[in-house]
Amino acid sequence: MTTTSSAASSKDKIVIFDTTLRDGEQCPGASMTYEEKLEVAELLEDMGVDVIEAGFPIASQGDFEAVQEIARRAGDVTIAGLARAIPGDITRAAEAVRVAKRPRIHTFVSTSPIHLAHQMKKTEEQVLDIISATVAQARNLVDDVEWSAMDATRTPIDYLIRCVDAAIKAGATTINLPDTVGYAVPEEYAAMFRRIVEAVPNSDKAIFSTHCHDDLGLAVANSLAGVAGGARQIECTINGLGERAGNAALEEVVMAIRTRGDFYPYRTDVETPMLTRASKLVSAVSAFPVQYNKAIVGRNAFSHESGIHQDGMLKNAETYEIMTPESVGVKATSLVMGKHSGRHAFREKLKELGFELGDNALEDAFKRFKDLADRKKHVYDEDIEALVGDEVATANE
Ligand code: KIV
Ligand code: ZN
Repeated sequence: MTTTSSAASSKDKIVIFDTTLRDGEQCPGASMTYEEKLEVAELLEDMGVDVIEAGFPIASQGDFEAVQEIARRAGDVTIAGLARAIPGDITRAAEAVRVAKRPRIHTFVSTSPIHLAHQMKKTEEQVLDIISATVAQARNLVDDVEWSAMDATRTPIDYLIRCVDAAIKAGATTINLPDTVGYAVPEEYAAMFRRIVEAVPNSDKAIFSTHCHDDLGLAVANSLAGVAGGARQIECTINGLGERAGNAALEEVVMAIRTRGDFYPYRTDVETPMLTRASKLVSAVSAFPVQYNKAIVGRNAFSHESGIHQDGMLKNAETYEIMTPESVGVKATSLVMGKHSGRHAFREKLKELGFELGDNALEDAFKRFKDLADRKKHVYDEDIEALVGDEVATANE
């Protein structure tokens, strides 16, 4: 079991681009205050993410000010500001991020037929001209320019190749191919990256990036497939916060790469023991609860109730845990006492509470515990203390 978070190695580095403060905040009801955004950005930087997308500066004065202050306070982390493919957006984003040590402008335009026809009302040739002009404009303002093909996964591949080629020729240093509507499946997403990397003449001049939404519950699987296809940046959010069903969850992609290094020979620089803190902070400031059974950071992620699992865990934690709780910032595994718990866990729980019972008393207490657990959804330590207290008192009479 791996226990260190980012051991130096020769594995390919995956750039972790966190967009909790931009795409995450776009989720209905998840808006954050200026101070909350600064607090989240500080934690993300401490945790070792490589790029923080701090907001969409043209969207509001408040967004502009938050992005600018995050940029001003940032150390070595890259600070990105989002801009549509509109000259005014790009200058505003540049104004907000340029105080950062490492500023990035992230500009995007739709490329799919459905977006071109209904949203943009532009031809393919017009969009190609827009890409060349806006990426070049951004590149005159900062050295680090990311270009995104919105709705890339519903764009005909030959046209997408021309768009990516135009963006790289105009100076884009990162090319993001988003699954904007969460429509792709992993094999298809991987194949798209492979094809683009092969077909675009100067593809080695840019880093390719995934950006996956979770409408079919495939955002994390698609992100990992994108990496298998050649991407080396993953865009994601804490707790998977984001538009509609959300974005790829940062904690899930990072722990999948760390836990399955045999299959994914990559590394990230994320300090994984900070993941639980980050999850709690984002949940608190966005007022979005984390579902109990959420992978990695849900409150049940390291809890076991069934007797078979508890027995296994007491013998060797690797029987039912594929990562340690400490590796994601959880103090310890918890064995939850309930109707599925067995004698082994019950005896350990009693020991933890300071009770040592003989075999008969233990058997009797265990029966009473099972009766109680059948009637009660949650059996707390106090319930067990009361139950065993009676047992001890009876034995002493
Ligand atoms: O989902 C999407 O396409 C986006 C872009 C702005 C990158 O969020
Ligand atoms: Zn998005």
